[in-house]
Amino acid sequence: EQLFGATRRNSQGINLNIASEWQPLQQALQAQLGRQWQAAPLFGGQRLAGSGQAVHCPWDRQRLVGTLQWADAAQVPAVMDGLAAAFPRWSATPVAERAALLERLADLLEAHRAELLALCCLEAGKTLQDGLDEVREAVDFCRYYAALARERLLRGELPGPTGERNELFYEGRGVFACISPWNFPLAIFLGQIAAALVAGNTVLAKPAEQASLIAMRAVELLLEAGLPPAVLALLPGDGATLGTAFCSDARLAGVCFTGSTETARLINRQLADKPGPLAVLIAETGGQNAMIVDSTALPEQVVKDAVQSAFTSAGQRCSALRVLYVQEDIAPRVLELLAGAMAELRVGPPDRRATDVGPLIDGEARATLLAHIDRLKGEGRLIAETPLPSGLDGHFVAPVAFAIEGIHALEREHFGPVLHVVRYAAGELEQVVAAINATGYGLTLGVHSRNDDTVRRIERLARVGNLYVNRNQIGAVVGVQPFGGLGLSGTGPKAGGPNYLLRFVSERCTATNT
Ligand code: SER
Repeated sequence: EQLFGATRRNSQGINLNIASEWQPLQQALQAQLGRQWQAAPLFGGQRLAGSGQAVHCPWDRQRLVGTLQWADAAQVPAVMDGLAAAFPRWSATPVAERAALLERLADLLEAHRAELLALCCLEAGKTLQDGLDEVREAVDFCRYYAALARERLLRGELPGPTGERNELFYEGRGVFACISPWNFPLAIFLGQIAAALVAGNTVLAKPAEQASLIAMRAVELLLEAGLPPAVLALLPGDGATLGTAFCSDARLAGVCFTGSTETARLINRQLADKPGPLAVLIAETGGQNAMIVDSTALPEQVVKDAVQSAFTSAGQRCSALRVLYVQEDIAPRVLELLAGAMAELRVGPPDRRATDVGPLIDGEARATLLAHIDRLKGEGRLIAETPLPSGLDGHFVAPVAFAIEGIHALEREHFGPVLHVVRYAAGELEQVVAAINATGYGLTLGVHSRNDDTVRRIERLARVGNLYVNRNQIGAVVGVQPFGGLGLSGTGPKAGGPNYLLRFVSERCTATNT
């Protein structure tokens, strides 16, 4: 079986626990952590006018990280004109040239690792480990989609009985909008854009409001790598007004979106109603992710993997564990270990190596999550909580675990470090999977069991995009663990997988009578 993209290697990254790797990075990082950055709407290599906003650090609210100019919806038509005009030439650029551009970008990302890490930390509140993983993933997306484009977007002949020469080939669709989230401000931002560009589209990039400074740096590096300035526009600003302007535009050929299910529905409606070509939507949305633990599981491993899955990135991953289903006979031991592990987690400023859990992205996210936590505490459901150090001035929420009756009790995704625990009885496994499926989401599912029949039964019954067995359920590796969900969790194709690029292209077939 052919392994697409196998011609490249994943980025190696840096081990923070090895002094000879950490110390040079630490020095480079110190120089970056005192900086400020600027972002503005950008097109054709020119900064456009915008309305100014100050960007503050989510874990030190007095600290200014930079300034940001928001684009205005009135700028969208001219930008769409320009991107549509640039499309034919970019689409006719050989795939190998477009792929080489992504590889130069990957090298530049590695060369600017310390600055990008500082931005992940200061603007998005990422811990150092998360920031390093983020840069690595962005590099991997670039190299993987480059390798994939070279292998999969070739013109090919389809031999057959017609006696003619039948050729299948691929072209970009036109102008693609890439709408990215704040929780992977570099990796998803660039992953979407890299795919759209290498497939031959011109791109309007709309980063999350909370992650525009890092997006600006990424675009500057793309230009430094040799991207023609007319091929990409960056429009930071209000998602609702800008999104409505370009999703209603006749020239738009497709949208690649990562964010909430509600916003994906709204975009879908706007695309359905807009004039011009029928536009495609690639959406990666939310999850209500569970882990199922049966009585054959190893409690120590379960707790290590559950804690990582629920609390890494302060639970702000769409893949994160929200509901831990534990079989009754193993539950007392698992919960005792869980409380012990949670007591050891360190919440604090993410620029320190010892910090496990950094802040939430902003005050609104924190307030929404605290309302949920207060309600469950009020119902007497608390199982364990990580201590929150005093003196922090940021959007911190301590990891917390609650007992609930079942996944149906959660009316929506709670995006943060909150773990819900459900006990189930032996013999109820099928009901548990049915309850998880009934949420309609289908992103990640963890299973801990040493019984292979149980694992295969869950695999057969569960409607999820990514199943993780006897390990944590976050951090899908590009090119190795293609990532994306079913149902309310997204449309596919999977990011970092062999079929991703095909959704960004138009297929053409020419039959020639020879
Ligand atoms: N790709 C990310 C992960 O697997 C998405 O949250 O964790």
